[in-house]
Amino acid sequence: MANSDTAEPTRRDFLYIATGAMGVIGAGAVVWPFIDQMNPDAAALALASIEVDVSSVQEGQSITVQWRGKPVFIRYRTASEIEQAKEVEVSSLPDPLARNANLPADAPATDENRGAEGQEPWLIQVGICTHLGCVPIGDAGEFGGWFCPCHGSHYDTAGRIRKGPAPENLLIPPYEFVSDGTIRVG
Ligand code: FES
Repeated sequence: MANSDTAEPTRRDFLYIATGAMGVIGAGAVVWPFIDQMNPDAAALALASIEVDVSSVQEGQSITVQWRGKPVFIRYRTASEIEQAKEVEVSSLPDPLARNANLPADAPATDENRGAEGQEPWLIQVGICTHLGCVPIGDAGEFGGWFCPCHGSHYDTAGRIRKGPAPENLLIPPYEFVSDGTIRVG
């Protein structure tokens, strides 16, 4: 990361902003800066995809990583969280679409289409509320998933909006498992 050969001004600026943004992930009620609107420079392009080692993440735990300047929530869901998500009728959801970049745009928001293919417990999502861009809090809200304290959006254990002003489910970025313990995002 600190390779001086590539420490041109634009890269330093990007790292500065990204570092500042990292500091607010835990705070929850903070609007995520739209740094992805910056012109992509070499450093940004280098972050177009990241590999994340999830081998030490236990059932019921989540980690947050940064991808293209955005927080990405990676959660190893419990059996009960999955069960809870499966019991919901897609037709009753405010947003019936999966919002999964790995699937066609019209894929329904079933739990199967939200969780990782072949790796059901894993849920990988962009951690930005689809209302006005705050970072939701995990293990919170009325549906046991995520809660956005800015204006009160509740997401379920599959990251689907269930109550509150957010119009869409949490977005699922392009990703794949490159091995059992490693996910490439982007
Ligand atoms: S930004 Fe999340 S509810 Fe408004």
